[in-house]
Amino acid sequence: MTTKLLLDCDPGYDDAIALMLAYAHPELELLAVTTVGGNQSLDKVTANALSIAQALGKTHIPIARGADRPLVEPLRDASFIHGATGLDGVALPAPDFALLDSRHAVNVIIDTVMQEPAGTVTLVPTGPLTNIALAVRLEPRIVERVKEVVLMGGAYAMGNASPVAEFNVFTDPEAAHIVFDAGWKVTMVGLDLTHQARAYEPIRRRFNDLDSAAGRMTREILTNFADTYRRLRRMDGPPVHDACAVALVADPSLVACEPAPVTVELHGGATRGMTVADRRPDRAAGATTFVATQLAVDRFWDLAFDCIGRLP
Ligand code: RIB
Ligand code: CA
Repeated sequence: MTTKLLLDCDPGYDDAIALMLAYAHPELELLAVTTVGGNQSLDKVTANALSIAQALGKTHIPIARGADRPLVEPLRDASFIHGATGLDGVALPAPDFALLDSRHAVNVIIDTVMQEPAGTVTLVPTGPLTNIALAVRLEPRIVERVKEVVLMGGAYAMGNASPVAEFNVFTDPEAAHIVFDAGWKVTMVGLDLTHQARAYEPIRRRFNDLDSAAGRMTREILTNFADTYRRLRRMDGPPVHDACAVALVADPSLVACEPAPVTVELHGGATRGMTVADRRPDRAAGATTFVATQLAVDRFWDLAFDCIGRLP
């Protein structure tokens, strides 16, 4: 059965992989792409989203730009990972900004959810949650109308932006609090899960023979992502974080999840942006939030390879 989704992203190397999976998976219907300031400025991540859509012949799917900064604090981007363009080292067509939807991303999120049949649209945020939080505040009815939220963000163990906080949540903790606290079903695809999806060199080699624009883009993305992760995170094999959220929507059997209330720390000095997941067994009953714990790694990469192999 086809799943309808909206991808809110900040491309970004792993967002670009997530976009390719969302565009290509035969059981996904990508309704719209919205952008948010995060890995790079809103202008640059929006340009990247347009360029990717143009390169893959997907410009018929709406793309809209959203919030350029978090709700409260200034944007502290991740250009040290994704580069000055947000996709350094990836050859892309010049973005055609005339293709942009004239609406703000928040309005595209609301319109999409309110126009599609109730309970059919999955929101997949893979950047800071600013747009999603603003949509909830502008049109609270989307909370009961959305099928579910499957977000890449957070961590119940180790962080990356800080010892305990993950970048997307750390960037806009207030927005994350609004999203986790809204009452809809939220699945947190955090670093605990995404660090199992490491593009080690044998994985990267699988894409070498793809004679397509998507194949070339994937090779350039993974090569550059691997270089920065090796240099800055001392990690061999970059985790394709955002692709895990899309893969879960496409095939839920790929990811084991458990119910756990999640609280976002807003006030801690050393812990601001921490997603505190209460995994105590007696707290699972009635939880609307789930945390992803285990990835079927080989089948995940098979799905990624199959999707990217379907693209031009
Ligand atoms: O912490 C990983 C997340 O931050 C991913 O979404 C990556 O794209 C960056 O935005
Ligand atoms: Ca991202």
